[in-house]
Order: sequence, then structure tokens, then C-alpha cells
Amino acid sequence: MGRATLLLLCLAATALAVRAEDPYLFFTWNVTYGTIAPLGVPQQAILINGQFPGPNINSTSNNNVVVNVFNNLDEPLLFTWNGVQQRKNSWQDGTLGTQCPILPGTNYTYKFQVKDQIGSFFYYPTTAFHRAAGGFGGLRINSRLLIPVPYPDPEDEYTVLINDWYSKSHKTLRALLDSGRPLGRPDGVLINGKSGKEAKVKPLFTMKPGKTYKYRICNVGLKSSLNFRIQGHPMKLVEMDGSHVVQNIYESLDIHVGQCFSVLVTADKEPKDYYMVASTRFTKNVLTSTGVIRYTNGKGPASPVLPPAPEGWAWSLNQFRTFRWNLTASAARPNPQGSYHYGQINITRTIKFVNSASRVGGKLRYAINGVSHVNPSTPLKLAEYYGIGDKIFKYNSISDDPTVAPTTATETIKVAPNVLNITFRTFVEIILENHEKSIQSWHLDGYSFFAVAIEPGRWTPEKRKNYNLLDAVSRHTIQVYPKSWAAIMLTFDNAGMWNVRSEIAERRYLGQELYISVLSPEHSLRDEYNLPDTALLCGEVASLPKPPPYSI
Ligand SMILES: *[C@@H]1O[C@H](CO)[C@@H](O)[C@H](O)[C@H]1NC(C)=O
Ligand SMILES: *[C@@H]1O[C@H](CO)[C@@H](O)[C@H](O)[C@H]1NC(C)=O
Ligand SMILES: *[C@@H]1O[C@H](CO)[C@@H](O)[C@H](O)[C@H]1NC(C)=O
Ligand SMILES: *[C@@H]1O[C@H](CO)[C@@H](O)[C@H](O)[C@H]1NC(C)=O
Ligand SMILES: *[C@@H]1O[C@H](CO)[C@@H](O)[C@H](O)[C@H]1NC(C)=O
Ligand SMILES: *[C@@H]1O[C@H](CO)[C@@H](O)[C@H](O)[C@H]1NC(C)=O
Repeated sequence: MGRATLLLLCLAATALAVRAEDPYLFFTWNVTYGTIAPLGVPQQAILINGQFPGPNINSTSNNNVVVNVFNNLDEPLLFTWNGVQQRKNSWQDGTLGTQCPILPGTNYTYKFQVKDQIGSFFYYPTTAFHRAAGGFGGLRINSRLLIPVPYPDPEDEYTVLINDWYSKSHKTLRALLDSGRPLGRPDGVLINGKSGKEAKVKPLFTMKPGKTYKYRICNVGLKSSLNFRIQGHPMKLVEMDGSHVVQNIYESLDIHVGQCFSVLVTADKEPKDYYMVASTRFTKNVLTSTGVIRYTNGKGPASPVLPPAPEGWAWSLNQFRTFRWNLTASAARPNPQGSYHYGQINITRTIKFVNSASRVGGKLRYAINGVSHVNPSTPLKLAEYYGIGDKIFKYNSISDDPTVAPTTATETIKVAPNVLNITFRTFVEIILENHEKSIQSWHLDGYSFFAVAIEPGRWTPEKRKNYNLLDAVSRHTIQVYPKSWAAIMLTFDNAGMWNVRSEIAERRYLGQELYISVLSPEHSLRDEYNLPDTALLCGEVASLPKPPPYSI
């Protein structure tokens, strides 16, 4: 056999192998600064391919997503894919504990699979407070054709990104935080990058009379919980953070930072324009933004009378209690969501996270169980993988049960990398206790978890009897009201290094995050992918020989 024939055979074999793989979606992103003026004041923003917000990623369960990111900012950059579980692949998770940042003037190609997931998600930059300048966008995972979706196909689907917004640049805001001061109040609220106060307001979306539309709404903001509602149009909730839910009807929804909800809206009212409204919750001065939805046969402007926002915490907590997982719906696989009976699994470990704020050297820091996280220049995951973890960080510098957590400004906070290790495949209960007066929103990368309870006061083991052990929604971000707690449960079956963060951006920037290392004892490719050949290396691992690859 000639060499050319052999080569051809090899190519044919490769082609076959490729054909058996799930489809690829390719994106090239040029990340630059640009000028926008959503609140009427020109300011610097982060654009992706000239767009603010960034382009939507429209994918289908199990697609391979490849994003070649060109960093044309003057600062290191990373993107995280909020809620995408990155099975076996924390290498692409886009946080400084797992990846070296993309340096200015260079590019890096993310490659990940949206494995066994459906739903509405978003991405955002995790570095250098970039999130305050934009760089965020929607990420959809559509259901595969063969898997039934528990509602008829909508006429069209719209992504609605809502967020609080500051008219100062991210560098100015960062300088405030670096100097030890808090961020203060936002200046406005945006819906898809617009405040509704522009000189010429164009409709954001159109609806044909009689048709039903899916709106995928995410709170991509920095700190404010937002209430979302549409004039005259009740919303049927169908999906939340990647899970099909029991389809209740809501006049308005509280969406906390980092969360995404999908709702169905039918155009069955008088044909004209209607406002969608997003307004801040739990703040003395309520900031409100509107966007226009137009009926295609519309005759006339939207009424200036906006539907009122709810008031107080109790309303929000009661709304949380109405959210239920649809046990019989299939998710990304044909089996029912409720076939995984989380309520019957024995808890192997209970960990309590208490958030606190304090001053260190006169400067504001935020902590979890008394430790305020800092990222070493060698990413934690890479240090661990290269076998120099103990040089870079210590596991478990916090305890599972902080009996005396610092909760007042006089108590001390330790500034250090905050890394817990959790045994692979164990079922763990995590209590999120918020002793502070402001709302908290917690996000876990790599997983979704069952949000079994949120209650006022302090947690005690007796509270377990009030958990929802049947149909709590499996999600990735959960709010904790002031002076309240939340309980979540999950199996740590995704090997990797995973970020737990306060989605409240200033809290995370000033240390309120940690990493959970979940190591597979097998070092097997079945449990975790190898470090990609293209991975960026930095810090102490840049000069080290690559560890041997995992075996099958
Ligand atoms: C990125 O955008 C900038 C500004 O528009 C432009 O100068 C540059 O050529 C673009 N780079 C790429 C790779 O497209
Ligand atoms: C998104 O992808 C789905 C499935 O491939 C397709 O049907 C739909 O038209 C796409 N939507 C947009 C806005 O590109
Ligand atoms: C940078 O972009 C070039 C051109 O598209 C591509 O060939 C290369 O693989 C990219 N580099 C990385 C590290 O992703
Ligand atoms: C749950 O999903 C099932 C099957 O997919 C669907 O028929 C049913 O209407 C949904 N139930 C609720 C209450 O939304
Ligand atoms: C859970 O714990 C109980 C009490 O210790 C024990 O009887 C039961 O067998 C355990 N169940 C499983 C599935 O391990
Ligand atoms: C966590 O790390 C410590 C220190 O390296 C080690 O002794 C312990 O066995 C680890 N525990 C788990 C659950 O991996």
C-alpha cells in the first residue's frame, strides 16, 4: 500500500469518527472597547464584534461550541458560560482559578460541549470588573428534535437581558473598589442595552396577533434584583436555569442576579404597543426601564401607565415557593427530570457558607466563612494538575461549620485562596446563610443543584423537615434574602475545579468566592478530560513539564 493510499484511508477514518461526533458551532469574537450612551452619557463599553450586548449563542443540546476570542482590550480577559456545566471540562470554565487569562493582543479558543442541557443562559467576562462594561450576551440551548418539549413550539424566541447599570467606566468603578470603598447605587436599568429613555425608541420585539412567543429573560446585572413584567400580558413560566418547571402564570417575576427564566407570552390583546418593564427590587429609589413590544398589526402607542412592581421581601419569598420542577418532563435526555430522586439520597456532608463583610487594612473585603479569596497568579486547577498545589494554596482553610463566623466590621477576615475539596460522587447539603442586610445571590459552576428551601432566620438541622424533597427546581443560581438562609443539595459527580461565587459583582471582586476541587481518584478520561493542548499556561506552571495524560 502506497503512502498516499494510507493517508487517504487515515483521512477517511478520521472523517467517519468526526461524523459520529456531535455538531460543531464556530464563532470568532473580536472583543474591543467602544463608546455607548445607554443613559444619555457617552461611556466606554466592552463590545463583541461591535455589539453591546454581545452576540447570542444559539446552540442545541450536545453541540460543541468553539469560540475564538481575540482580546483587543488593554487588560487580560476571560469569559464564563454561566450555567453551562462543562462536564469533565473545568479547563474551559473561564474563571481565574481554572484558566490563565487571555492577554491583550492575543487570542484563545474556547471549546466546550453543551452536554445534556437545555435552557436559557448567558455568558460574561469574569476578569477585572469587565462585567460592568458589558461583554455579556445570551446563550440558548435548544432541545434536540427527538426529545419532547412540554409546550408547543413558539412562533419565535426572544432573548431579554436585563441589568442594572452605572454610567462610570469599569476602570473608574474598579478604582473605587480597589481603594476600599463600596460601589454605591447604580444609575439605571437596561433592557438589551437600552434604557427606554432614548430619543427615538424603536420596538425591541414584534408579535403577530394570536401567536405565542418565548421570552428568555436573564438578569446579567451587577447587584440589583429586578422585577420583570409586561403590560397586560401574563407570563407562563416554562423554564428556569435549565430546568422545565410546572407552568404557572405570573403577572411579574423577580429575577435575581445571575438567574434566567423562560416564559411564554401570547399576543391576544388589543393590537398596539406594550411596555416590558424591569425595575429594581428592595431599594429605596426604584430604578425602572422599559422596552417596547409591538403587535405587527398594531395601531397606537403603549399606555404610559406602567404595571406596578411588588413590594417587600415576603412577596418574593412566596413567589420562590411556587416554583416547582416538572417531574414528568424530559430534559436533555428522554428520561423524566424527576427520575433522579434526590430526596432519597443520604447526605454525606453538610457545609455551611456564611457571607460577611469587613475591613482589612482599612479596605472593604467580602468573605465566606471568614476567608476572602484572592487568585494566585498560577490558576488553582493548573497548580493542582501539575502537582504543585501545596505551593500555591491550602485546601480547606475554612471549616464546614463556621460556629463563630465574622459578621461585624470588628471581626477579622483572612485574605487567601479559598479552596475546599469534596469527595467525588458524594451527595452534599450546602447551607447558604446570609446574616447581612442586603440580598445575596450564589452561583455554582459545573453543576446544577436542588434549591430545597429558603427561609428567614438561622438554619438548624430541624429545618430539614421543611425541605422540598420532591420537586424543588434544579438550578445554578439561588438568592438568599437578608437575614435568611437557603439550602441546596447535589451530587458532586463532575470532576474539576469549580467556582462558587456571589453573583453580586462587587462582593465577588472583593473576595466573596471560593473554589471546590472534585478529584476523580482514577485519573481517567471517563471522569475528566485532559488539559487541552491549546491551554494557556502562566505563573509557576509555565516552565514545568506537562504531566502525563489521563488514560481511558
Ligand atoms: C477588531 O476590531 C477592531 C476595531 O474595530 C479592528 O481594528 C480590528 O481589525 C478587528 N480585529 C479583527 C481580528 O477583526
Ligand atoms: C436557533 O437554532 C435553532 C435550531 O437549530 C433554529 O431552529 C433557530 O432558527 C435558530 N434561531 C436563531 C435566532 O438563529
Ligand atoms: C488564534 O486565531 C488563529 C486564527 O484564527 C487560530 O489559527 C489560532 O488557533 C488561535 N489561537 C488560539 C490559541 O486559539
Ligand atoms: C410537565 O411536562 C409534561 C410532559 O412533558 C406536560 O405534559 C405537562 O403539561 C407539564 N406539566 C405542567 C404542570 O406544566
Ligand atoms: C441511608 O441511611 C440509612 C440510615 O443510616 C440507611 O438505613 C440506608 O440504607 C441508607 N440508604 C442508602 C441508599 O445508602
Ligand atoms: C482534601 O485535601 C486534603 C489535603 O490534601 C487531604 O488530606 C484530603 O484527603 C482531601 N479530601 C478529599 C475529600 O479529597
